[in-house]
Amino acid sequence: MKFFIDTANLEEIRKAQLLGLLDGITTNPSLISKEIIDKSDIYNHYTSICNLLKREEGNVSIEVISTNYTDMIQEGEKLSLLHPKIVVKIPISKDGIKAIKYLSNKNIKTNCTLVFSLGQALLAAKVGSNYVSPFIGRLDDISYNGLSLVKEIKTIYEYYHFNTKILAASIRNPFHILECAKIGIHAVTTPFKVIDTLFYHPLTKIGLKKFLKDYDNINES
Ligand code: E4P
Repeated sequence: MKFFIDTANLEEIRKAQLLGLLDGITTNPSLISKEIIDKSDIYNHYTSICNLLKREEGNVSIEVISTNYTDMIQEGEKLSLLHPKIVVKIPISKDGIKAIKYLSNKNIKTNCTLVFSLGQALLAAKVGSNYVSPFIGRLDDISYNGLSLVKEIKTIYEYYHFNTKILAASIRNPFHILECAKIGIHAVTTPFKVIDTLFYHPLTKIGLKKFLKDYDNINES
């Protein structure tokens, strides 16, 4: 299972890198707005993110802010020329689906985002999106079952042998990651702090303390 970090923050990316747990990055306009003050710095910031990643550390999904087809494909092409690691993230809509089809035909990688239903996920796959991003946490927030949606997407994608990879998004807790892992979801994108929670178990801490205490009791000659 791939671990993408959902951030535009360089320090957060470095934390995952240092642990050898970085498989890619996803950003969105809200995340980038936390990192820069002036819009003219956006592309430089995207380049800094891409340059930080080693070859084996995956790709970087960058979201378009255009909402109509013509602007989306222009923006997508511009983003794809900025760095080879960039995957163009496009929100689902009629214009978005057309843009994904266009960009796919040009071999530009795409990630269909803001996906909240099975129908939307089916459309993304049909036009050849490389990734689909169903938002688990935001569905849970409104009392829908985000994980059920991800499971259903996996079922229909396997049924039709679609190549679109599921990149489960809006991850809020370790349970989201582990439930995705249990059903073989390709990737999750999550803030680093959620990955951090996977390390801890109280018995590990107690066990290590006892091992070290017992070791200290051995005589030294
Ligand atoms: C996905 O690619 C989005 O950037 C992200 O996962 C949204 O997460 P949020 O619901 O925590 O904002």
